Amino acid sequence: MIDVRETRATQARYNRIAPLYDLMEALAERRYRNWRERVWALVQGPEVLEVGVGTGKNFPYYPADTRITGVDLSEKMLARAHRRAEKLDHPPRLLQMDAQALEFPDNTFDSAVATFVFCSVPDPVLGLREMARVVRPEGRVVLLEHVRAEQPFLGWLMDRLDPLISWLVGPHINRRTVDNVRRAGLVIEGVEDMDPAGIFKLIVARPERKANGE
Ligand SMILES: C[S@@+](CC[C@H](N)C(=O)[O-])C[C@H]1O[C@@H](n2cnc3c(N)ncnc32)[C@H](O)[C@@H]1O
Repeated sequence: MIDVRETRATQARYNRIAPLYDLMEALAERRYRNWRERVWALVQGPEVLEVGVGTGKNFPYYPADTRITGVDLSEKMLARAHRRAEKLDHPPRLLQMDAQALEFPDNTFDSAVATFVFCSVPDPVLGLREMARVVRPEGRVVLLEHVRAEQPFLGWLMDRLDPLISWLVGPHINRRTVDNVRRAGLVIEGVEDMDPAGIFKLIVARPERKANGE
């Protein structure tokens, strides 16, 4: 069940940081650029969903010949994405929507993508289950996420710091996203560590085959 209070708090947090988001991320973005390219190279269309589209940082990497729908909880983040989209030849469709309750029928998309989102979604398993639901059985879910470190001391430290960081800037730094992907009923095809500490991960998964053989 959706935690309405926590979801509203997440929305308010991102509305608050929206004007500063691109600036806050500017340094890290140098590192993320190659990773974003890797993510989008794995994406098959034509129908693609981007969950937590934010200010539209993935727009430059969208593959040609795809129709992209981007959703986000925060109207202020989306307003920035709209402004970025105006400059594109093939702008995505942008909608305000909660990842935990996607307003699309089952099996709508060929791929669903999220970058740095499941650290913030209040109930990540619910959101990932929704991605699995709206992706066709032969489709793909591609995620780029930062997760709780496996190294015991670092993991412990992340647990201690998480309440303060999530209160200040939004994301949780100690999510076990690979486990959450499995718990959501997705079948993992691959997990790649993007940094030596294994905090940033590229995760590729498929929805479990439906019982009726779809
Ligand atoms: C850290 S930002 C990442 C934005 C973008 N994907 C990127 O790579 O720069 C997290 C985004 O997830 C969105 N978000 C958080 N919870 C959400 C939810 N339940 N449904 C939809 N979007 C959500 C936030 O509003 C924010 O735009």
